[in-house]
Amino acid sequence: MSFLNPTDVFGEITTVPLDEDVAPLFNIWQMHRMSALLGVCVELNVCGWMKKEYPRGSTAKQLQEHFNFHSENVAEIFFTSLAGVGVFVQTGTEIPKKYKLSRMAELFLVPGSESFFGPFIQLSIPNFCTPGMLLNSLRTPRGEGSNLMMDLIQGNRATQFTMKMHSLAVCPSKTLAEKFDFSDSSCILDVGAGSGVYLMSCLRQNEHLTGMYFDLDPVAKVANTFAEDNQLEDRMTFVTGDFWNEELPSGADTILFVNIIHDWEQEKWDFLLQKAYRALPVGGKVLVVEMMLADSPATSSQASLLMNLAMAQWTDGVQPTPDQLFEVYHRNGFAQAQQMELSGGFSVAWAKKVMPSASSL
Ligand SMILES: C[S@@+](CC[C@H](N)C(=O)[O-])C[C@H]1O[C@@H](n2cnc3c(N)ncnc32)[C@H](O)[C@@H]1O
Repeated sequence: MSFLNPTDVFGEITTVPLDEDVAPLFNIWQMHRMSALLGVCVELNVCGWMKKEYPRGSTAKQLQEHFNFHSENVAEIFFTSLAGVGVFVQTGTEIPKKYKLSRMAELFLVPGSESFFGPFIQLSIPNFCTPGMLLNSLRTPRGEGSNLMMDLIQGNRATQFTMKMHSLAVCPSKTLAEKFDFSDSSCILDVGAGSGVYLMSCLRQNEHLTGMYFDLDPVAKVANTFAEDNQLEDRMTFVTGDFWNEELPSGADTILFVNIIHDWEQEKWDFLLQKAYRALPVGGKVLVVEMMLADSPATSSQASLLMNLAMAQWTDGVQPTPDQLFEVYHRNGFAQAQQMELSGGFSVAWAKKVMPSASSL
């Protein structure tokens, strides 16, 4: 649509009610700029620099000089924009103004901390979403075996992608490990486990558990390093394989799928749940962890809505609702489905394997 003729575009002057405001649309229009700014902040490692050089606060001049910005003015804009969304905090009222890291930035934007979120933020830098890219995604089905996630785990890109997913998973994996009742589980199989962060959090928190890791070979190599670093390799068995072409390994009484089903068309969810059913003993549990949509967009979390949009751009999948998962569970021989919120926008939905005759099959 091109806007060439003022009369065609605006028509007659209409009176907008005074209690209506275009500001929400303006803010949505601007969001990509804030996202880009956060990407710049991570790429330059501004938070790591401030933590080391100016833990009590840096001025815009110091920022400008260190990062080679063209003026103190733009450095001030950099600080105030990110202070506005909680990354920096202005210290006191002195002139020149000083900014220090917020608690959120200390925890999540400084490299070297366990909860560093920078790698995930960097995921969108080479794939930054433009209207053209999004429209192209809306018009082009990805097709069998071809989605961004699969491209990202090819060859030496597996390490990068696995670390990015790891940084998204640190917080919710700890919440799952602490909040979920694993007392009647003894062995967890994590399917498409990535870095193994969920499995490792669950094992660390629940000493009676052992774990089975399952993922493709290049990704498993990365996870091995994480397991060794966490001294958990003795409690974990590594199995490499392809869940489309192989059965899941047996021996676990609890099976975990984290950020897996949202990568694939809904028709494939049953296929994966059937595999889990076959691998589990009666009474075993299946757990799906995702950013789940609610029944309506108005009550869905912003995180789940935005992740759903990312799936439209990158894969043929969607974020599930708990009810959709419950249906898939019941169709495939699981019962007693329940759901619980974790952190970071994630929830877990789980159910128990029952005998085929007792299920709704
Ligand atoms: C979005 S990542 C999720 C990783 C991890 N569960 C997490 O939440 O951090 C998807 C994972 O599924 C794995 N995967 C994709 N296709 C697979 C297949 N056919 N067989 C086994 N694993 C697969 C990928 O290697 C990747 O680690």
